[in-house]
Amino acid sequence: MQIRADSGAARIGIEAIGLYVPRYYVPLRDLAVARGVDPDKYIKGLGQEEMAVPAPDEDVVTMGANAALEALADVDTASIDTLMFATESGIDQSKAAAIYVHHLLQLPKNCKSFEIKQACCGSTAALQMAMATVAQRPDRKVLIVAADVARYGLGTPGEPTQGAGAIAMVISNQPRVLALDAEWGAYTEDVMDFWRPNYLDEAVVDGKYSIKVYLKALTESWAQYVEESGRTFEQHDYFCYHLPFTRMAHKAHQHLSKWVGEVRPDNRRVQHSLVYNRRMGNSYTASLYVGLLSLLETAGADLTGQRVGLFSYGSGCMAAFFSGTVVPGYAAYVQKDRQAVQFDNRQRLTVEMYEAFYRHALPSDGRRYQTPAHETGVFRLSGVEGHKRLYECRAQSVHTRPLQPEVAIA
Ligand code: COA
Repeated sequence: MQIRADSGAARIGIEAIGLYVPRYYVPLRDLAVARGVDPDKYIKGLGQEEMAVPAPDEDVVTMGANAALEALADVDTASIDTLMFATESGIDQSKAAAIYVHHLLQLPKNCKSFEIKQACCGSTAALQMAMATVAQRPDRKVLIVAADVARYGLGTPGEPTQGAGAIAMVISNQPRVLALDAEWGAYTEDVMDFWRPNYLDEAVVDGKYSIKVYLKALTESWAQYVEESGRTFEQHDYFCYHLPFTRMAHKAHQHLSKWVGEVRPDNRRVQHSLVYNRRMGNSYTASLYVGLLSLLETAGADLTGQRVGLFSYGSGCMAAFFSGTVVPGYAAYVQKDRQAVQFDNRQRLTVEMYEAFYRHALPSDGRRYQTPAHETGVFRLSGVEGHKRLYECRAQSVHTRPLQPEVAIA
């Protein structure tokens, strides 16, 4: 299917975008020391410096709602026709996280709300569905929320590639940030590189194999994208790759460059997309779009008219290659001071405190439980009762409130 998105009145794309980064982090140098690993393995080998740690009173609903609040800052919520929530850290087998977000954001009662899953690629599946929705009904807007907690076992090779966060995007026929091109390449293959059975809290992962499949899926989806679009590698000014860890983007760019016959990969085309993920870690469904936002906000140059190639990979696996062009005036709709505002204000955790956050679990017997209060932005998970999650909205995000005694940093 082709959805005309890149020309004339029928342009479809990202009208607004919002990010939520958890308020706590662990420096990977500290984690490496605690695990008896050379810090350079995490910092240089994986390309990660810090890892976002979600607080016990936040989950994909609160993180997603916090990101959506930013994306909707100057969008009339009455125009939101559909809310698609992409996650692989779902909180319920039946009820969609989208319904909670719909309630927290007071979206219109006729807004359709549902959840989408295909590992880290669920957000991209949502994006393609959103484009089709807007192509069919140009007066409608779609809100996509992608939120995840990347969680592996303590002390496992996957541990330094954890992270958490959320992205929200409003997709419409008035793109103010990125106008999406019509042509997509996709690739699906039944593989067991990463999965999480219902009875496990952490993913099962064959990390080395997942890298191999990721790279294969990249060239397979690129080949179809090129066939559909007729564009060359050189016609893409920047590339954003799915980011389980930032070195993966270098591996991917090197692989694709070699595949198209480039002698040497130009890392300047990817480096700006890595700035946020390096300090946040993996956020699964959100991570590709965190990379896009990082490019737009940290490039330090006017990107108007620049074409960005985007590669989305979801283990299991499904992948997609697509592209978009940065819209004139985009700079007014992104936050160039985000690092100072959202990243530098976070609270550093010791490894012991990170492990305490990691081990925190909600009761599963239906009894009433109030979660200890931490920094979580505007929305927080206040507790559970009768197997129901209870959320609360705080008047404003408080960055300065002291930590509760049970998690106070010594
Ligand atoms: N200094 C600098 N670099 C070092 C180093 C050191 N002291 N020690 C190791 N490295 C490098 C390695 O050479 C390797 O780089 P390379 O891939 O370019 O060769 C990198 O650091 C990682 O080391 P490796 O031994 O491969 O790590 P690992 O086996 O412990 O685990 C993953 C790496 C990515 C497989 C693991 O973190 C994982 O499973 N993550 C979750 C799944 C995932 O992210 N998959 C990606 C595709 S979706």
